[in-house]
Amino acid sequence: TIDQKVNALLKKMTIEEKIGQLNQYTGDNSATGPITINPNKQAEIKAGLIGSMLNIVGTKYTRQYQELAMQSRLKIPLLFGQDVIHGYKTTFPLPLAEAASWDLQAIELAARVAAVEASASGIHWTFAPMVDISRDPRWGRVMEGAGEDTYLGSKIAYARVKGFQGNKLGDLNSVMACVKHFAAYGAAVGGRDYNSVDMSERMLWETYLPPFKAALDAGAATFMNSFNDLNGIPATGNAHLQRDILKGKWNFQGFVVSDWGSIGEMVAHGYSKDLKAAALSAITAGSDMDMESNAYRYHLADLVKEGKVPVELIDDAVKRILRKKFELGLFDDPYKYSDQKRADKALSNPEHRKAALDVAQKSIVLLKNENETLPLSKNLKTIAFIGPMVKEYKENMGFWSVELPEVDYNKWIVSQWDGLQNKVGKNTKLLYAKGCEVDGDNKDGFAEAVATAKQADVVILSIGERRDMSGEAKSRSDIHLPGVQEDLVKAIQATGKPVVVLVNAGRPLIFNWTADNVPAIVYTWWLGTEAGNAIANVLFGDYNPSGKLPMTFPREVGQIPIYYNHYSTGRPAKDEDSKNYVSAYIDLKNSPKFPFGYGLSYTKFNYSDLKLSSTKMKNNETIKVSFQLSNAGKVAGEEVVQLYLKDKFGSVVRPVLELRDFQKIKLNAGESKTIEFTIDKEKLSFYNDKLEFVAEPGDFEALIGASSADIKVKSNFELL
Ligand code: IFM
Repeated sequence: TIDQKVNALLKKMTIEEKIGQLNQYTGDNSATGPITINPNKQAEIKAGLIGSMLNIVGTKYTRQYQELAMQSRLKIPLLFGQDVIHGYKTTFPLPLAEAASWDLQAIELAARVAAVEASASGIHWTFAPMVDISRDPRWGRVMEGAGEDTYLGSKIAYARVKGFQGNKLGDLNSVMACVKHFAAYGAAVGGRDYNSVDMSERMLWETYLPPFKAALDAGAATFMNSFNDLNGIPATGNAHLQRDILKGKWNFQGFVVSDWGSIGEMVAHGYSKDLKAAALSAITAGSDMDMESNAYRYHLADLVKEGKVPVELIDDAVKRILRKKFELGLFDDPYKYSDQKRADKALSNPEHRKAALDVAQKSIVLLKNENETLPLSKNLKTIAFIGPMVKEYKENMGFWSVELPEVDYNKWIVSQWDGLQNKVGKNTKLLYAKGCEVDGDNKDGFAEAVATAKQADVVILSIGERRDMSGEAKSRSDIHLPGVQEDLVKAIQATGKPVVVLVNAGRPLIFNWTADNVPAIVYTWWLGTEAGNAIANVLFGDYNPSGKLPMTFPREVGQIPIYYNHYSTGRPAKDEDSKNYVSAYIDLKNSPKFPFGYGLSYTKFNYSDLKLSSTKMKNNETIKVSFQLSNAGKVAGEEVVQLYLKDKFGSVVRPVLELRDFQKIKLNAGESKTIEFTIDKEKLSFYNDKLEFVAEPGDFEALIGASSADIKVKSNFELL
């Protein structure tokens, strides 16, 4: 068995070789790839002092490094890890954008395609999925997660792990998933990256941990811990998180890697007095692999000698890592993943582009569409396509895309301009003006943009963030549309032409004037390789938009954190105008600009005939909730129907409503369907006053909606 093989190998290892397995370094990348391997690293690999490398891509380079490992005494293969976050070469929408598709199959397929491409190109392990719930759009990393909701986030975490890992580790097309960042990284104070997190144990269990558990249930091979401290203890040195919860209560058998330098950062946290103390805290707390801190490499052996770290602790970490190397089949063939023929085939597979287009279309959210401005007619004579994003290529990839030195991204990515041009062919004349940059205050391009708009039947304006404005270390205190872009919108809108605004971003942005004045707004996020085609399909109705927001869009920064499933207060505001000693702002509405779960379609869906199989539910019974969904419009479309539950009272205060299920339903024009959800005990359960996960008897409400703020049908029931 694998365990026997691991134990046999462990017996042969010196303490230095064991610690080597816990040590991860980055590759020596340059703009054109890792041309030379740093001589020190070469020597260390040959001496068996490095267990894993990150940031080495491609069969050639991974093979080169692996050849060095094969010169080591015990020939233990290296593990190659990489941030394959939303695609490898074929780039998919940002994870937050994909979450807006609410299409678990499409999301799983996107991860599968990424795994097929990466695993053929030398990569064994992706540092994904990021499953951090976040309620703060100032935090730049919201782009990498599934948004604010625990239920949706858990489903997506599960789908992504399944997609990356396939049927089992060791299958040719699978890479190990790494669920990150354990834990609560998404709740950094003030939305500032790497900042502290202070939260109750209840909040941790109720809101932040379930997606991690879901990923584990899907079989996630590895976890990454986190930069933040949680209630004063850095996550990397946090035994409660890693030992008690992950490896204890949840019985996780894989290994935990630190985040980049996060072991060393415990010194800056003021938690460890030096790197050696940090190494001690991290290994004791359950961090198995040290990413780029050099803490284990330089201090663990001494700590063992001094009797501060029992060798069993090292052995446990080593075994966890070796087990994965065996499961991946690397001891049978260390070059199994570095296969150029397989890579050539995988990286040019047209099915991958199809999958990327499919999920890109599904990720787009139609925020506003007055006067049926959209879809555009294919018979328009002239369209003005204006804005700083129109002719960009790489921008469409968003943050955390893998950049392969040999790829000409201007040929590989369909820009928004190219997508529109392909769509309209020769029928329609396309005019272009940039108007302005994404940021800065230069309005010199406005006059040309306005003149261009005046010549057109319709204006499409593509604005938003640059791709490097959301991502790691990209927190923003101000999430309004950057620069003078909203002024550009005003100038174009003043021409009186019908205006469609495309907003490109990795987070919810604030653009109130645009939202209130422009007739059509499409939130495109960053859509990846097929961005241009996906956007064109939606603009012209070849794809009927079906995306729904996975995060609440605030009216102003002052509302943050804003999320739909907040607790009931003792003084709820009756409506938007109640201000008198109720929980409200005197200078702003409580409601968001666009709520969680919101998104329009080119058709109209009606909800009716809600039926509950019973209004009384015994503890271990289920209730079926059914209703009629009909497509009352003129075109086929997909609707994400959302089941929310409200627990009317409990041993602790309960959220005003909580998403508990959803389905994405496709209906032809005029078609109706009975939709059914099952409510079981699990859906009614929560962490009670004793932190037990239970369903408490009492009154509940089932609410079916098109968004968290657009409940269409509802009914009460009772848990006996
Ligand atoms: O995977 C990432 C992590 O999410 C943030 N810090 C760096 C890691 C490796 O690139």
